[in-house]
Parts: sequence; structure tokens; C-alpha cells
Amino acid sequence: MSIVTEKLLPTLESQPAPSTIPLLDLKAQYLYLREEISRALQDVADSGTYVLGSRVREFEEAFAAHIGARHCVGVNSGTSALHLALITAGVGVGDEVITVPMTFVATTWAISYVGARPVLVDVDPVTYTMDVGQVERKITARTRAILPVHLYGQPADLAPLLEIGRRYGIPVIEDAAQAHDARYHGQGAGTLGFAGCFSFYPGKNLGAYGEAGAIVTDDDCVAARLRRLRDHAQGQRYHHDELGFNYRMDAFQGAVLGVKLRYLDAWTHARHRLAAGYRERLADLPLQLPTEACDLRHAWHLYVVLHPERDRLRCELEVLGISTGLHYPIPVHLQRAYSHLGYREGDFPVAERIARECLSLPLFPEMTAIQQDQVVAAVRTLLREDPV
Ligand SMILES: Cc1ncc(COP(=O)(O)O)c(C=O)c1O
Repeated sequence: MSIVTEKLLPTLESQPAPSTIPLLDLKAQYLYLREEISRALQDVADSGTYVLGSRVREFEEAFAAHIGARHCVGVNSGTSALHLALITAGVGVGDEVITVPMTFVATTWAISYVGARPVLVDVDPVTYTMDVGQVERKITARTRAILPVHLYGQPADLAPLLEIGRRYGIPVIEDAAQAHDARYHGQGAGTLGFAGCFSFYPGKNLGAYGEAGAIVTDDDCVAARLRRLRDHAQGQRYHHDELGFNYRMDAFQGAVLGVKLRYLDAWTHARHRLAAGYRERLADLPLQLPTEACDLRHAWHLYVVLHPERDRLRCELEVLGISTGLHYPIPVHLQRAYSHLGYREGDFPVAERIARECLSLPLFPEMTAIQQDQVVAAVRTLLREDPV
């Protein structure tokens, strides 16, 4: 029996089993918004326009205004957003794009879709975002974009990346799929580079009720091309000047997102309160807690702690009724799909350590104080002799 289990068993025997705390609770949020969402969906059904249309346009305008971008182009997923952003940045077959191994694999899928090669640099051991000190030495004559990921909702250190991009004439595309409402030096994450890509997958900080995503940009021509590309590259109906895609956002998702956007500020505040609660009450434990780098606003999409015995901790939290997540257990360079890149275990030690040790604790805006107390108590019970 493990030390942790020995400590846990008396607790389990002496207390009633706690209710399950989910990693996130989409149903709780839906119940709160039910009336508004139902009305918005009914409006779409009544309108007879089910793809793009006024609901999507209204959401695009509201989201662009919310984060401080000139244009927002709604698409059908974050993956499609990255794909189209890379195309409009001129990335193509044989090119290289610099990104990180610690991300959801969609970041590198998009690079592969355009026929380019992901060139990886490790992440920073404190912020878990792109280690900007490693970028310049990876630039070659084929480098066509730098693609930092705002992992877990924390913006990558964009100022030095933008400076490198300016010096070499290489666009920076932000993977802001996890960073709605995050800020970097006062500016909305996603708005600082050539383009910013968002996912509205249901579990995201701003989530649709299906698949959806968006690209934001300040460039009028890029926005116009993105609008054509997502719609079979039609400027004029049935006139296709280049290879296009069916990446359109559907009207139901536009309507849901339009309703939910009005709550995003309040939800981000709630996430901050919960993240501060974890920091205060877990700081003395043998865990590496996430930090918020100075002069930026974390979106706290995920609250990820590192622990050397992550798998055991995870199982024992599950026994105590606490669900957790792994973001992400296998870094991109060790995925079989990317074996052709020739990377080996040991190439990116920070990403590999995060993959081994990461554990996402429950954090969602509707999480109650009682639920957080339960998570904190369980973690403390498992990691300390004297739980409080
Ligand atoms: C960092 C990152 N990039 C891209 C994506 C892809 O977004 P989608 O699932 O909407 O295609 C995700 C989604 O999880 C993500 O977390």
C-alpha cells in the first residue's frame, strides 16, 4: 500500500464519501443561462439561416470589440482557425514554423496541413509557454511563422517574439485557443501578432454548444481573404479563385457564443478568485503551483499543478471524488504521428517533465466555495501529515 493510500484510508472510513467534483461543469453553466440560450436558439431556428448569417456576424463584431481586434472571422473550430491563419501568413509546402511541444496537437496539425514542418522549442519551466531564449537559433531560411501557444490561458512572452519576428520579417501567429480574455501588457491575447486563433470548443472559457473557432486580425485584406477561404474561397458565388474550405461557423454556435460572451468578464473574475484560492491554500505543499507572469492577465483556463507522483495522486483524488485532467500527458515530439520529425525523448526536458507531472485540478466559474474546500482538503489530506 502506498504512503498516500495509508493516509487516505482512515479518512475514507471515517467520513461519508464526498460528492464527485468534476473537472468542469458545463451543465451548471447551461442551467444558469437556459432561458437566454433557448431564446437565442429558437430565433435561429425561426430565421431559416443556419450557417453564418446575422448571428455569426453579431458575435464576430462583439468578440472583436471585446478583445480589441479590428476583425474577427468565425470558423468551425480552433484547428481550422490555425489552418487558415497559416495560409494567409503565406506558409506552405517545405516551410518551417516554430512552435512548442507542450500543447494540444491541433497546433502542429495545422502546420502539417499546409505542408510545413513544425520546428519545436522547449517551454519555460515557470510559465510553461514558449522559451523565447531558444527561438532565434531555430530560425532558418525556411522559417515562415512563429506560433506561440498561450498554454492553460497564460499568454506567451510576446514582446521578444514580436521583436524577433520584426527583425527577421517572420509573422507571429498566436494560438489563443485557451486564452479568451487573457491580456498581455494590457492588450487582448490574440491581438498582438499577425493573427490570433481561438477555439470555442464547449469546455473552453468561452465555449459553444458544438464545434467553433475564430481568427482575429487587424489587417483588412487578411480578414477579407479569411472570409473567402472559410466559405469555399468564394468572393462571388460559384467563383473560386483559390483552394477553399468549408470552415464556416454555424448560426446556432454564433447565437450561443453571442449570449455567453456577455458573461465572459464575470467568468474570468471567478476563475481568478478560484486560482487565488488554490494558491493561498496549497502553497505550503510539495506541489509546483502555476504562476501568473507579471504585466499579464492569465485566463486560468486550466489550473495545472506539477507533482512527481502525479499518477498516484490522480488515482487517490479520484477515490475521494475529485476529477482531474492531464494536459497533456504526451508532448507533440513523442507522438507517433510525429516520429518522422526525428525528435527523441530528452530533446525537450521541460515539456517532458510537464507531461509526466501535470495534473489539472477542477476549476470552472460555477465552482462553489464548498466544492473548492473539498478539493483543497483532499489534496492536503494526500500530501501532508496534518491536513487542515
Ligand atoms: C492550444 C490549442 N490549440 C488548438 C486547439 C484546437 O481547437 P479545436 O478543438 O476547436 O479545433 C485547442 C483545443 O483544444 C487547443 O487547446
